[in-house]
Amino acid sequence: MAAKELVFSGVQPTGNLHLGNYLGAIVNFVRLQHTHTCIYCVVDMHAITVWQDPAELTRNIREVTAAFIAAGIDPKKHVVFNQSQVAEHAELAWVFNCVARLGWLNRMTQFKEKAGKDRENASVGLYAYPNLMAADILVYRATHVPVGEDQKQHLELARDIAQKFNNDFSDSIRAHGLAEKFFPLPEPLITGPATRVMSLRDGSKKMSKSDPSDYSRINLTDDADAIAQKIRKAKTDPEPLPGEEKGLAGRPEAENLVGIYAALSGRTKADVLREFGGGQFSQFKATLVDLAVDKLGPIGAEMKKLTQDAAYVDAVLADGADRARVIAAETMNAVKDIVGFIRKR
Ligand code: AMP
Ligand code: TRP
Repeated sequence: MAAKELVFSGVQPTGNLHLGNYLGAIVNFVRLQHTHTCIYCVVDMHAITVWQDPAELTRNIREVTAAFIAAGIDPKKHVVFNQSQVAEHAELAWVFNCVARLGWLNRMTQFKEKAGKDRENASVGLYAYPNLMAADILVYRATHVPVGEDQKQHLELARDIAQKFNNDFSDSIRAHGLAEKFFPLPEPLITGPATRVMSLRDGSKKMSKSDPSDYSRINLTDDADAIAQKIRKAKTDPEPLPGEEKGLAGRPEAENLVGIYAALSGRTKADVLREFGGGQFSQFKATLVDLAVDKLGPIGAEMKKLTQDAAYVDAVLADGADRARVIAAETMNAVKDIVGFIRKR
């Protein structure tokens, strides 16, 4: 029998949650609640791989939690918590530091991008980050991981780690009477018309929390005026919209806006182009503004309300952590047995 399906994903509390996070990840988190048991984690330990101001980090942890809830994640039916409250993530990450190979991590493009030219000065945590991400997923033996396109390579690494652990310890896994595939190979779920939302200023750059220009992204906390201004100013090209998807080739800004429209309205790009093909951007943008304000406005408003109630948010995280820890501890105990550590029984 196949392992029971379990969904896990994480978002870093590093400020400026934006439309890319929402359409690439959070919308899918919400959808999967109807078919799966889901664990959604605010990955604060990942955040500190790059320096974070402590007070701001605390605020950002609450803000991501608020975004989850405001977007429609039910923290009673599913599990919502922050990573640092469940110590097993760090424990399993250490074991994975000893399973993953330097050669594997050396291939990670996100590290190369984030470390930039001054690699000597990057934190060791930034380099080992994908091992912690694998631990996040596998400490729950999760099978499905909804993420944006940029996380695909990290998911492949998580699969490699799971497989190598299962192989390296196969005798011990069997000797302890555990299932041969102790860790499942987690599958990425990269779905929807907006798995890679691009900057509104430059269609060749990913929409990102760290872009210095706030006009490059729509933040989940932007009000209607800000959303309207940013969409109106978004870069486009002089041609009218094409009638078919293949007409978007070589037109990254057009493709991005059509993808955003499709994702926000729950339609396909082809369908959107059937309606708007041949029209001017000005008109399309005006409709997109209405749609975006309609969908994002209530989420931003709810986020603001929730972040004012820190006690409520913190209670959600504590409760989620308590429930997460039960599953994580079970996996970690088995890992200790498999590796040959002695533990209190
Ligand atoms: P992060 O903010 O890096 O923790 O990302 C949280 C989630 O949002 C991950 O699943 C990312 O893949 C996704 N994500 C981040 N930026 C984008 C983007 N521009 N387009 C689509 N998905 C994104
Ligand atoms: N690395 C992911 C990002 O930057 C966040 C993350 C950490 C994550 N652990 C995870 C995503 C586990 C999915 C599963 O977006």
